[in-house]
Amino acid sequence: MPSTPSKDAPLIIVGAGVFGLSLAYDLATNRSYTNITVLDRYMPPVPDGSSVDVSRIIRSEYADPFYSALAVDALAEWRSSNWASQYHESGFMMLSAGNSPYMQGYRSMRQEQKSQQPMELFEAHEADKRIKTLYPGVQTDLKDAAVMHNNMGGWANAHDAIRGLATRCSLAGVSFVTGAHGTVVSLEKVGSRITGVQTAAGTKIFADTVVLATGAWTNGLVPDMNHNIMAVGQPVGFIQLSPDEAKRMSAMPVMVNMDTGVFCFPPTPDTHQLKLARHGFGFATQVQVGPGRVISTPKLRGNNAATGYLPDDAEKALREGAKFFFPEVGDRPWANLRMCWYTDTPKSDFMVDYHPDTEGLFFATGGSGHAFKFLPVLGKHIADCFERKASPELQNKWAARRGESGNSKRAMSGDGSRGGPQMRVLTGKEQAKL
Ligand SMILES: *[C@@H]1O[C@H](CO)[C@@H](O)[C@H](O)[C@H]1NC(C)=O
Ligand SMILES: *[C@@H]1O[C@H](CO)[C@@H](O)[C@H](O)[C@H]1NC(C)=O
Repeated sequence: MPSTPSKDAPLIIVGAGVFGLSLAYDLATNRSYTNITVLDRYMPPVPDGSSVDVSRIIRSEYADPFYSALAVDALAEWRSSNWASQYHESGFMMLSAGNSPYMQGYRSMRQEQKSQQPMELFEAHEADKRIKTLYPGVQTDLKDAAVMHNNMGGWANAHDAIRGLATRCSLAGVSFVTGAHGTVVSLEKVGSRITGVQTAAGTKIFADTVVLATGAWTNGLVPDMNHNIMAVGQPVGFIQLSPDEAKRMSAMPVMVNMDTGVFCFPPTPDTHQLKLARHGFGFATQVQVGPGRVISTPKLRGNNAATGYLPDDAEKALREGAKFFFPEVGDRPWANLRMCWYTDTPKSDFMVDYHPDTEGLFFATGGSGHAFKFLPVLGKHIADCFERKASPELQNKWAARRGESGNSKRAMSGDGSRGGPQMRVLTGKEQAKL
């Protein structure tokens, strides 16, 4: 049985997103680890990471009882004095004019009384009226859609929550290194044991244990394993409102169109922006990272969110979503566009486990576009896996498994919550514009 890391040995966590920071915080505050260093390319919130920008959905609706229970725990924390300043309980709804498998799964789970978070169900003939009575800011036509609604739910300010978590880590004694000295380009190994990392500054940082909380960059750092994870870009866009428009539209919930995958948030307080994004199958790149090894990954050097480029079909889908949700302002020019890089696994289960044969290497990744909401409670479960104390069920659910080789062309089926077209590999021309 492999040992667990010693609490005063140097520990490196690569990645200052929700996985890396929540683990660092739990280990430093609740388990007396004294020598933790978090490395990242940028100061958190990392501008092209997936734990950034103004909003993330906070919902407790899951067709999977494990994530459903975890989300109920997380929601209680978001509502508590620990996190309430970053949480906006706007309400949450999913709609489908078709047969969304996710909504059907949720319905049947509810019928079997397994759900801890019952929602209201509005059938197509009543949904429009019911929702607009509850939320006068909703403009979209819901006459053909069934809606599942929960007034407990909404969104969290991802930027501020991550900044707050990083500050808490720092106060708890966690060290941070960013820039070239924090940009990990490869892992240092002796035999089958990790000894540290090599950085873009040409330096080496030694540690007994290295945690890769590196999201979409993970596959590029571990050349000897094709993981069961894959990076895909998802389109995100923002529309600027005037203060008057924002006020008029403010009474709206977070809305998800399960048929297209496009979802939207209420106007942001102060900045008056609408955010839309697609929870779909995404776009893959093809990057050669070794002889015969091609993976999908965002670039390691430089800010992937800087260009504002989206492929034409992605921009078009967001535009259609904007017109659907916001008939009044949906054709307005984008204030900002970017790709959000998901790290997908076959069933949207996270990958939180030791590498199968490299000693001292631990993964905390595979967010699959749904991890952020767990920020207040994720760290203790990752730390339990790290200390090999998690239940056998959880260890199995979050296990690091080998994937097939050449995974850059494989689409992940996810947990049924995705909508829109199948995954598409970007052309060379498109990839050059990212
Ligand atoms: C952390 O580990 C490094 C490397 O072993 C060591 O030089 C340093 O003194 C340790 N720091 C603390 C605070 O224990
Ligand atoms: C602290 O860690 C222990 C396990 O070591 C766990 O049982 C407990 O729930 C944790 N407390 C918090 C506040 O996370």
